[in-house]
Amino acid sequence: MAEYMAGNVADYADGDRKVVVCGEFEVGVFRIGSEFYAWHNRCAHRAGPVCQGRIMKRVLEATADDMTVRTQSYDEAESHIVCPWHGYEFSIKTGYHQGSSRFRLRKAELAIRDGEIYVSL
Ligand code: FES
Repeated sequence: MAEYMAGNVADYADGDRKVVVCGEFEVGVFRIGSEFYAWHNRCAHRAGPVCQGRIMKRVLEATADDMTVRTQSYDEAESHIVCPWHGYEFSIKTGYHQGSSRFRLRKAELAIRDGEIYVSL
């Protein structure tokens, strides 16, 4: 297993992301609060560069009794990455697509030592 440096913890503000080249692969490293997550930059749908998409909060749509949508709001506790090719959304924390558990991002191992972030593939 090869290990690649992905920068220093101090390089990432809350909500930041960097896409790092790891040999023949690319990995997106994300910071949400004090936690870090690493996902292969290859969408579970059609292999698009998912980690380079927009980061946004999960949209919540409350439905009325007749199942119409009346309001939309953002879930401040859940950040998503939106694939730039077809718009599939994945949880940055779990890697799961929000509409189907069939689609999930591939996790990369991540370690933090002495304030430095390393990705292992
Ligand atoms: S390749 Fe990512 S949504 Fe299609």
